[in-house]
Amino acid sequence: MSAGEAILRVQGLRCTIAGQQVVEDVSFEVPATGITAVLGRNGVGKTSTLRGILGLIHRRGTVTLAGERIDGLPTHRIVRRGVGYVPEDREVFAKLSVAENLALAERQKNPRRELVAELFPDLVARRDQAAGTLSGGQQQMVSVARALINDNRLLLVDEPTKGLAPKIVTEVAAALELASQTVPILLVEQNLEVVRRLADDAIVIAGGRVVHVGKARDILDDDDLTRRLLGVHAEAAA
Ligand SMILES: Nc1ncnc2c1ncn2[C@@H]1O[C@H](COP(=O)(O)OP(=O)(O)OP(=O)(O)O)[C@@H](O)[C@H]1O
Ligand SMILES: [Mg+2]
Repeated sequence: MSAGEAILRVQGLRCTIAGQQVVEDVSFEVPATGITAVLGRNGVGKTSTLRGILGLIHRRGTVTLAGERIDGLPTHRIVRRGVGYVPEDREVFAKLSVAENLALAERQKNPRRELVAELFPDLVARRDQAAGTLSGGQQQMVSVARALINDNRLLLVDEPTKGLAPKIVTEVAAALELASQTVPILLVEQNLEVVRRLADDAIVIAGGRVVHVGKARDILDDDDLTRRLLGVHAEAAA
C-alpha cells in the first residue's frame, strides 16, 4: 500500500453474528492520510468488517490502531482511542435538534465546533431544527459532523451517499474530501464516481475476504475486475 505508516492494520479478521460467520478472513492496512475505499457487492461483509473493527460484533484476529492492539477492547474504549463511526443508516436522534445531536457526540474538552461549522454551514443555519425533519443529505451531514467534532485518529464511514439525490451526493462527497484533510477515512462506498473522486487506495471484498488491494483508480479502470467483483461497468464511474 502507499508510503508512510498505516494508522490501522487488520489481520485475519473473522466476525460472527448470532453464531454465523459473516467475515471469513479479512486483512488490510489503512494509510495514515487520505481516504481508503472498501468496495464489494451487496452482502459481502463490508459493514460487518467495520463493525468488527469497532467490536460491535463478535470478532477474532488482530487489529492495531497506530501500532497498538485494539481487538481485545470493548467498543467504548476503541472509540475513546480515536475511532469515529458514521453508520450505514445515519442514526441521528430524530426528535433532537441539530445542536443537541452534536452536543451528545462531544467527548472532549475542546470539541471541534469551528471545523464542523466551517464544513457544514447548512447545519449552523439549522441548529435548532429537529434532526428528523432534515433531508437525507442534511441528516448525513449531522452524522458525519458528530464524528468530526472529536479529534479522531480514524473515521469509519459506511455508505454515506446511499439513497441521496445526485446534487446532495456531491455535497456529502465534498465534505468528506475536506474532512479527510484532518483525519484518515476508511470509506465503504458503492457509488464509484464518488470513489473515483475521493479514494486514494481501495480494497475489494468478496465472500468475506479481501480479494484485491490497490490504487482506487487502477481498480476502477479495470473493466474486468469491476464487472466481476463489483457487478458494475466501470464506464458508469468514469
Ligand atoms: N444482524 C444480522 N443477522 C444475521 N446475518 C446478518 C446480520 N447482518 C448482516 N448479516 C449477514 O452478514 C453478511 C454480510 O453483511 P454486511 O451487512 O456486512 O454486508 P455489506 O457488504 O455491508 O452489504 P451491503 O452492501 O448490503 O451494505 C450478509 O450475508 C448478511 O446477510
Ligand atoms: Mg453494508
